[in-house]
Amino acid sequence: MNKKTIEDIDLRGKRVLMRVDYNVPLDENGNITDDARIRETLPTIAYIQSQEATLILMAHFGRPKGQVVESMRLAPVAQRLAEFVDGNVTTVSDSVGPEVEAAVKDLRSGDVLLLENLRFHAEEEANDADFARQLAGYGDVYVNDAFGAAHRAHASTEGVARIMHERGAPCVAGLLMARELDFLGQLLTAPARPFVAILGGVKVSDKIGVIENLLPKVDTLLIGGAMSYAFAEAKGYEVGESYFKAEDAPVAARLLSLAQSGGYNMRVPVDILVADRDAEDAQTTVVPFDAIPADKMGMDIGPGTIADYSTIIENAKTVLWNGPMGRFEVTPFANGTRSIAQAVGRATTNGALTVIGGGDSAAAVKQMGLDSQMSHVSTGGGASLEFLEGQELPGVAILDDK
Ligand code: 3PG
Repeated sequence: MNKKTIEDIDLRGKRVLMRVDYNVPLDENGNITDDARIRETLPTIAYIQSQEATLILMAHFGRPKGQVVESMRLAPVAQRLAEFVDGNVTTVSDSVGPEVEAAVKDLRSGDVLLLENLRFHAEEEANDADFARQLAGYGDVYVNDAFGAAHRAHASTEGVARIMHERGAPCVAGLLMARELDFLGQLLTAPARPFVAILGGVKVSDKIGVIENLLPKVDTLLIGGAMSYAFAEAKGYEVGESYFKAEDAPVAARLLSLAQSGGYNMRVPVDILVADRDAEDAQTTVVPFDAIPADKMGMDIGPGTIADYSTIIENAKTVLWNGPMGRFEVTPFANGTRSIAQAVGRATTNGALTVIGGGDSAAAVKQMGLDSQMSHVSTGGGASLEFLEGQELPGVAILDDK
C-alpha cells in the first residue's frame, strides 16, 4: 500500500474529517442486520481519539437521490456506533450548515460527531465543489476509511480531498482502508501460489472485468452460481428453467475462448443440483452440467463439483472468493456455498491467504458463521469488484502517497 495512513501524520489536537461507509443492511423494522461496516472502523476511531483529536464522520445511507428521506437518516447507525465508541457520539440533522458549524466548534478532544446522510444533498453525488468546500471547512485533516465507497468520485470521497490539498492539508487512509488495500492488493501483485479464484453470483456480465483481469493472474479460476448457466448455454447445453439472461451467453462464450486461447485454467461445474421450483420444499436432483432437464432449474453446484473445487481450494496458497455458488438463502440450495466456505476456511488453516471479496459471498459466510475462518472479509461490494478489475478507485487515488 503506497498511500499514507493516519499513522504517518500528526493528528494531535487536530479536527479530523473522516469519510466512513456505514451503508449497512436494515431489516423491515429498521434494525441493522450486519454492523460489520461500523465495527471495522472502530480501530481507526480509537486511534484518532488516542491522539486527542476531534472526529467528524461523514457517511451516506441508501440512495435518497438528493432528497431528505426520513427512513434513510443515520440515527440507527449513530445509536450502534455510540454503543461501541468510548466517549461522546453526537449527531446533527444535516451534513452542512450552521447547526453543523456550531456542533464542530463544541467538540472536545475524543468527541465524535456523525454528520447526517450526505446523499440528502444532490451535490454529494455530483461532486459539487461548493458542497465539498463546506465539508472541507470542518476539518484540518482528511481521512478516508470508506473502502466500500472509494469507487465513487463524490464530494466526500474525492472533492473534499482535492480542496484539502489546495490548502496543503494531509489526506490519508484510515486503518480499515489500509487493510482492505493491503489484502486485496496482495491478490493482484504478489499472490503465493497456487492462486485460486472462485467466482459466482448471478450475472456473468457483472464479473466480466474481474474474470478478464484475474484469468492471467490465477492458477485456477472456478466458476459457480447462477452465472454457470450462461457458460452452459455458451457450450450449447440445455439450461432448462435456470435463471439466465440471454445477453450473458455471448459474454460467457468470449470468456471461454479467452481462457482457451490464453491457456488459462478456468473450470465450470461438472454437476448441478436442479429443482422443480425455487422453494424450501422443492424436489431436488443432481444432474450432469451438460444435461439439465428442460423442466428443471439449476439452483446450486452438485456434489461432484463441490468435491473437485474443495480439493483445488484446500491445496491453494491464495484464495479469492466472490459470489455465492447457488441460491444459498433457501435451505435445500445452500450446500454448495456452505461447502465452498468450509473449504476456504480449511485453506486458511493450511496457511493460505483467503479473501472474501465482499457483497453476497461476505453475507453468506457471515450467515453461516464462517467469517472468522477467513483471512479477510472485505467491506466493499462494488468497490472490491472495481479494485479486482484493476481499476484505480478515485477515493484512493486522491490520497497522499507515501
Ligand atoms: C455499497 O454499499 O456498496 C457502498 O456503500 C456504495 O453504495 P452505492 O452503490 O449506493 O454508491
